[in-house]
This record gives sequence, C-alpha cells and structure tokens, in this order.
Amino acid sequence: MSDADLFTDANLSDPYPLYQELRDLGPVVELTAYGVYAFARYRQVREASGNWQVFSSARGVMMNDRINSALQGVTLCSDPPEHTPMRQVLGRPLRPEKLRELVPRIEDEAEQLVEHLVEQGTFDAVTELAEHLPLTVVSELVGLDDAGRARMLEWGAATFDAQGPMNRRTTDAFPKLDEMVAFALHEVKPGTIKPDGWAAHLYAAAAQGDLPVEKCPFMMIDYIAPSLDTTIHATSSAIHLFARNPEQWDVLRADPALVPHAINEVLRLESPVQRFTRYLTEDYDTGGCTLPAGSRVMLLYGAANRDERRYPDPDRFDVRRKPSDHLAFGRGEHACIGMNLARIEMRALLEALLPRVSRFELLASELKLNNTLRGLGTCKVRVS
Ligand code: HEM
Repeated sequence: MSDADLFTDANLSDPYPLYQELRDLGPVVELTAYGVYAFARYRQVREASGNWQVFSSARGVMMNDRINSALQGVTLCSDPPEHTPMRQVLGRPLRPEKLRELVPRIEDEAEQLVEHLVEQGTFDAVTELAEHLPLTVVSELVGLDDAGRARMLEWGAATFDAQGPMNRRTTDAFPKLDEMVAFALHEVKPGTIKPDGWAAHLYAAAAQGDLPVEKCPFMMIDYIAPSLDTTIHATSSAIHLFARNPEQWDVLRADPALVPHAINEVLRLESPVQRFTRYLTEDYDTGGCTLPAGSRVMLLYGAANRDERRYPDPDRFDVRRKPSDHLAFGRGEHACIGMNLARIEMRALLEALLPRVSRFELLASELKLNNTLRGLGTCKVRVS
C-alpha cells in the first residue's frame, strides 16, 4: 500500500523517485489515495498489456468515470471482438506500405527545417523543431477542416490531462474534451473534411460496410488525440537528453545506424505516455496478492521502463542499449497503432541533425505538466 499522490506538481515534475519506491514496495501496490492498484514493475505491466481478457479496456483506460464514459466507443477503450474491426480500419493509412509513400515528404520537410534552424543557431526544440512535422504533415493527413486542425494540439493535450483523477488539472481540461467530442460528433462529416484524409477514409470504410457509421466520430478521436503531443514530447526529450549527455550524441554521430536504437532509448527513459489503466474482469493473482474483479489497475509505463529488474542501470541514457522491448508504445492488442509514423518523424529529424550539429547547448527548458503525458513545453538550445 502507498498513500502517495502521483498527480501532484512535484511528482509529475519528477516521478522517478516515487516510481522507484513503488517498484520496491512490490509487484503490485494499492494506491490508497485513489482506490486503484498500480503496476510499476516491467513484468507486471507487460503481462497485463498482453492480457485483454482479464485487463479490459472496454470500461475505459483512464482514471475517472467522466472521461471513461465520454470516450466510450473509441478504439483505445474497447475489447475484442468490438475492437478488432475498428483497429483494422484505423490502421489502414498507418500500414508500413502506406507510410513508405510518406517518407520522402517527411525527410524533405525535416531537412529543410533543420537546415534553417542550424543557420539560426539557437532555437526552441519544442516549438520550432518537434512540433513542425506533427503540425504540418500529420494534422494534414488526418484531414480535418482548418478550424479542427488548428485545435488538434490543444484538444490532444486536454484529452490526456482529463485522464487523471478528479483534480484541478482534470476538471480544467473537461471543457476542451467536450469541445473535441462535440466537434467529432457534429461537425466532421464527409464534405467538410479532406476527401483523401484519414478521417474521410473512416466514412468510406463505413460506407463499404466495414464498420457501423456511428463509430466514425469516435474513431476520429483515436486519430485526433494521440497523434501530435506524444511524438512532439518524444522528439524534444531526445534533444534534451542529447544536450545533457553530449558523449551520447558523439556515439550516434560516429554510428548513425544506432538511430533506431537511440529512439527506443529515448522512449524508454522519457516515455511520453506515462500511464493508462485497465478494469479487472476477474480476480487476478500476482506476487502473492489477489486483486478482486472490478478493480482498476494502473499500468505505469514510465516506471516499468526504468525497472532495474529489466534494464541494468536504468536511469542512464545509453544509445547502445537497444531496448526494443520497452513499453512506451504499450504491447498486445492495443499496442500503439501510430508507432511507425512516430518513428519515421523522429528518425527524419535526428538524421537531418546528425551531420549538421556537433553539440546542443541547453539554454533553458521547462516541463509541460500533464496528468498522463510527460514532456517539455520549451527547450531552448544553441547548436554548433
Ligand atoms: C511517440 C509517440 C507515441 C507514443 C509514446 C504512443 C503511446 C501509445 C501507447 C502507450 C498506447 C497503448 C494504449 C493501451 O495499451 O491502452 C498507444 C495506443 C494508440 N496510439 Fe499511440 N503513441 C504515440 C504516437 C501515436 C500516433 C502518431 C498515433 C496516430 C497517428 C497514435 C495513435 C494511437 C492509437 C489510435 C492507439 C490505440 C490503439 C488500440 O487501442 O488498438 N499514437 N499509443
């Protein structure tokens, strides 16, 4: 048991000492402040992610009833068999062969952007570097009208903030969550969206009989909410880590083939999504405890990815580590459907930076606190 509050500003700013404490307490810890169980060790989070029959998503994967009911029907919050056709349709534009068509455009954008920023000498790695591809390329691919596109970043952050327990951060985020749900339900229709965008392809799939048309607005939320901030945080965390560990940038410059491994290492160490929850459909035994059916269990990806039982010296940033089994994208039935796109974006930027930048000097940085996400709101660097 622990009475710790994971959601205070102090613990959101630096959750790692608390995660260590929770891992040390045992394979499962009851968080008495919220009446939920938490898995902070790698093994338990991985096992639960792979067992949707017992660790159900259908009653929501968030910390409060209001958002769990508002987002009922999104792919993220469903179980098979309902989940299977939704995920199949959702994943169509994100399949490797579809994404391959996008690579030249993404690489070209990354090259031009990085060339410009390096010439500039100092820049904000969040707003000027990391936001660019998600805000220009990805939001366009989703294909909302201009008003929706302009609001995506704010809606996404609010959706993750509203996933917390009923604290101020959560309640402040509800109006924006409601606005996004209303937009998806009432304003996005074939005719108001780009005809070849991801949103439009959902309606095309429904017209073909692949899913009920009522599902389309909710599945649109599966594209709108998680596609921007997650990747933005991962990219700016990478620059932050390289600025603080310049010898790791040297290793990467000497061996650019390590880029995919470096991306995994960044995601392991600073997992953009820190947690989701599950609802137990039956009693579950772990580590000598029986968790009763009907309990909510928090899967702490950010803690599992720093479990010393899995990763020796887990707080050390090491681009040679090759932690391809990290849990930052989840695992199993709900494993992140956008992970390949996120990797393509990060890789394009890092590969554009490698030949042009020998050092990142950190000038200033500040976290953007959020109930679910971990990442920076600003990260000013000077490059040489
Ligand atoms: C670095 C970037 C990203 C991270 C760290 C991340 C993280 C995650 C995690 C941890 C899950 C598992 C959820 C669970 O098990 O309940 C997930 C699922 C999901 N992600 Fe991502 N994500 C990223 C980028 C993206 C992008 C770019 C998109 C959209 C284009 C996306 C769309 C989704 C969707 C739709 C799901 C739900 C899949 C399902 O329920 O079957 N994500 N993501």
